[in-house]
Amino acid sequence: MGKLLLWIHTTYNWRKRPPPVVPPRAEVETGKDGFLQQLVDAVAAEVTKKTVNSIRQSLGMTMQTINKKVDDAVKATVPSLINEEMKRLSIPRLMVLPKKSETDVQKPQIVHHKFDEIVNLVEVDMPTMLKGPAGSGKNHTIGQVAEALGLKMYYTNNASNEFKLTGFKSASGEYQATEFYRAFKNGGIFFLDEIDTSDPTALITLNSAIANGYMAFPHETIDRHKNFRIVAAANTWGTGANTEYVGRNQLDASTLDRFYAMDFPYDKGVERAICPNDTILHFMWALRSAAEENKVRLIVSTRGIEKFYRLAMQTKIPVEQIMRGLVIKGQSKDTLDKLVGKVKQTTGLRKNVLFDKFEAVIAGKQDPTSTNANKEPGDLKDFEAMAWLKDDE
Ligand SMILES: Nc1ncnc2c1ncn2[C@@H]1O[C@H](COP(=O)(O)OP(=O)(O)OP(=O)(O)O)[C@@H](O)[C@H]1O
Ligand SMILES: [Mg+2]
Repeated sequence: MGKLLLWIHTTYNWRKRPPPVVPPRAEVETGKDGFLQQLVDAVAAEVTKKTVNSIRQSLGMTMQTINKKVDDAVKATVPSLINEEMKRLSIPRLMVLPKKSETDVQKPQIVHHKFDEIVNLVEVDMPTMLKGPAGSGKNHTIGQVAEALGLKMYYTNNASNEFKLTGFKSASGEYQATEFYRAFKNGGIFFLDEIDTSDPTALITLNSAIANGYMAFPHETIDRHKNFRIVAAANTWGTGANTEYVGRNQLDASTLDRFYAMDFPYDKGVERAICPNDTILHFMWALRSAAEENKVRLIVSTRGIEKFYRLAMQTKIPVEQIMRGLVIKGQSKDTLDKLVGKVKQTTGLRKNVLFDKFEAVIAGKQDPTSTNANKEPGDLKDFEAMAWLKDDE
């Protein structure tokens, strides 16, 4: 049943591109964590419900019509249901992107659950703005989208003035080109990163490029290349600074109006794939939820989880130190106490050695068993070498 559903998913969702590859993690495939079984059960239940409804509505029709209706219903629902369920169960999604050349060997890549949607938007030439928290994988994903569509990516970080977009003529009269100019002229994805730190008036320049098919640069006016696309990324909706992202600008309504705004949250499937250790994951996820619920300015990002895992596995740095450097940072004891209280009160975090150590650090106690001093960094790649990091389940 599982194989059938994944076959349907790959066949109907990826007609033109190479099919996604089933996550290779043994736990997922053998159902050790119960993920695949849960996924299949959930999808099967949903499909059955929809199928029965479809049959009921079709009563009175010929068997052939009913069969066709059921077939269409299954084809239409299964791919998106699988995607939804994978997201809910935080199953990592892997995909092989197209080869860049005949000799190129493409390894499966982990993709965010919004990947397909962004590919579709870019394909149909919809200027898109991804709004997501720090370190959620916006840059990483846009790079993958460009790769999937075989488009070159042109990158600009924050358009602090108009000339960062249009370019300018130097004292000798020579035109100094920009990434925006190159994308507009040659085709490709123009990726405007941190659009909400840009100068709002500089962005007005983009309006004509998006709306009209031409653009005046300092030395020439050119038509937009048919493969010119634009994607932006931001930490806010362009409505100005907030308590988490203080250096953000309010963007002009005419600019915002030209973009399809997409929420780009953290993806637990991606995090599970880049940090295959449940103790770290559950600890970090519990802190993230507690911080969100308590409106505390503590960022637990995909980037942070990746760094935590890498430092824990590849260095001798004691885990308390890693927590101080990646999680605690400048937080006050008051805030941290509140977080600990919230985790205990709300999350299903059971015995978790990292959380115990976190509490000890906050209480000012040093745990003598936490040192990794007698271990070589290489040893830490081996799970067995990390007695203190045993899974908490
Ligand atoms: N799909 C992925 N596969 C592998 N690693 C990923 C993926 N997505 C995110 N990461 C990890 O998370 C880190 C942060 O991703 P990225 O820089 O794309 O985030 P961002 O949303 O652009 O962050 P910011 O808002 O701070 O600019 C990456 O350096 C990478 O280590
Ligand atoms: Mg970024």
